[in-house]
This record gives sequence, structure tokens and C-alpha cells, in this order.
Amino acid sequence: MIDPNPPIDLPASQLLPEQGVEGQSLDVAAIANALGGLSCRFDVDVLAECDSTNTLLLSRAEAGAAAGSVLVAEHQTAGRGRRGRSWLSEAGDSLTFSLLWRFPPNKSLSGLSLAVGVAIAKSLESLGASGIMLKWPNDVLLDGRKLAGVLIEVVPGSRSEAVVIGVGVNLRLPQAMPQEIRQTAAALVDAGIKVPTRCILLATLLAEIHDVLTTFAGHGFAGLRDDWLKRHAFEGQTVRLLSDFSATLEGRCRGVDSDGALILETSTGLQRIISGEVSLRKI
Ligand code: ATP
Ligand code: BTN
Repeated sequence: MIDPNPPIDLPASQLLPEQGVEGQSLDVAAIANALGGLSCRFDVDVLAECDSTNTLLLSRAEAGAAAGSVLVAEHQTAGRGRRGRSWLSEAGDSLTFSLLWRFPPNKSLSGLSLAVGVAIAKSLESLGASGIMLKWPNDVLLDGRKLAGVLIEVVPGSRSEAVVIGVGVNLRLPQAMPQEIRQTAAALVDAGIKVPTRCILLATLLAEIHDVLTTFAGHGFAGLRDDWLKRHAFEGQTVRLLSDFSATLEGRCRGVDSDGALILETSTGLQRIISGEVSLRKI
């Protein structure tokens, strides 16, 4: 049978160089070239270093930056994850970027982090990766380990229609990553694919995110729910829900609702968990 979506066959010049070899730098022209006709939708700024692309883009957004503004950093000194965690990365071995997007006023943004997860999974699959799964609400897994994370933050004062979408993808795991995180983390070099340069990877991700955001603007998460569910890492499995603010809850994953809420079958019946300050653990 012919695969309707064969992985993109990239020339050697567009593949990630071997470790230890001088890597290809992030480059605005190379990213625009890879974006092709979509490049006019994005305004990409490459930084050698910043604390966090999310933090910096949030302040640019408050100062009026346009939708489609993208900040991508060779190195983040204080990358942030959800729940006040750090996101670890190393120059050349990670892709760390943020995209500013503006939705129509009063648009419900529930399920947006799941939608972006779908875009990341589809991008990696288009590059040939298999076994990419999604963990509610914001993780992209390879063989059950975290390959990429999404941090979505509302621009202060924007009545929640402007968001900064931060994405971190491990190409190789940082040397300095502590062992306990390393055990739960994954890298694209272990995905059994020809890993593209970060410019190609960024353009592939931006194109897919653009597509998903267009669907989301029209139909909300409902338009992407099936795509998410078929990649749900914990479907039918028993999980524990950890929260800093409420008691631990256990239950069996029964999919997600059309607004992205996780449906958990607990001893007291079905419960809808809305994407908040909680983390899932398989038990
Ligand atoms: P989440 O809140 O995103 O669901 P979590 O609390 O369930 O996360 P994990 O998804 O297991 O936690 O993430 C593992 C931990 O490793 C998190 O604290 C995460 O921030 C941290 N981490 C930091 N940098 C990385 C990285 N580059 N790759 C993978 N994990 C990382
Ligand atoms: C998570 O899994 O908790 C989310 C990780 C998000 C990391 C990215 S890297 C680019 C952007 N800038 C940040 O400080 N965080 C996001």
C-alpha cells in the first residue's frame, strides 16, 4: 500500500550534523526558505541567548508585537516549564521557541495546549518518526518519555485572546541533565529518523502549528479531538493526578472531551479534569 504521507526525504545539507561537529546555526533566511509560502505569516527573530523565549515574547506582546511573531533562541538560560518547573536545554541540541498568536475576542482557549501537541506529533510523523504519543495536557512522548513540552501563557491584559505558545523539543539530551529527569526524557536522535536541522524542524513545526491554529480558531479543540485521541498515551490506563492545591485523585483515562478536559473514571464516577496546575502519572 502506498503511504499517503511519506516522510519528507531531506538532502544531507538539511540534516542535523553529528554530535561534536560544528552545528548549523539558527538562521532567519534558512527558516523562511523552509517555510516557503507560509513565511509571510511569521516574523521570526533568532536570538543567541535569552532567559526564556516565552518571557521575552510576553513582554514584546504587551508592547504590541504582531500575531505570528516568533522568538527562537540558540540558548535559554532560564527556560520554563509548567507548574514553575525549569526546562533544560543546551545550545545546538534543543529547539526552543515561542510563537505569539491572537484569537478573536472571547474565543475559548480550552484545549489549546492539546491542539499544539497534535501539531508537534504530526510534524514529527511527517519527518518519519513513529510511536509519538501525547500525554495530557501538554507533553509529547517518544517511547513513553518526554520529547517535547508546550507552555502556553496568556498575554497579560489581553482579555485572554493573545497567547504565547512556547515549545521545547529535545534533539539530543543536555549533558547536564540530572539523572532523574534523563530517565523520563527522550531525544529526537533516538527516534530512528534522519533528524533535520533546527531550521527545517522549526519551519515544519510552525507550518503544522499554523494549520492546527486555523482549525482551532474555527472549531475549537473539537476539530482536533480525534487526532489527539488516536495518539493518547494513557488511554484506558490508570493514572494518578498530582496537584499542589487539591487531594491526589486516581482513575482510569477515558479520553478527552471536546473542550480538552481529561475524562477520568474514578471510584465515584466520571470526572472531567480541566487543564490546570495538575500533572499525570501512570500507576
Ligand atoms: P507536565 O506538567 O508537563 O505534565 P510533569 O510534571 O508530568 O510535566 P514530566 O512530564 O514527567 O513532569 O516532566 C519531567 C520533568 O522534567 C518536568 O519537571 C520537566 O519540567 C523536566 N524537564 C526539564 N527539562 C526537560 C527536557 N528538556 N526534557 C524533558 N523533561 C524536562
Ligand atoms: C513543559 O513541559 O512543562 C513545558 C516546556 C516548555 C518549554 C519551552 S522552551 C521555549 C519556551 N520558553 C520557555 O521558557 N518555555 C517554553
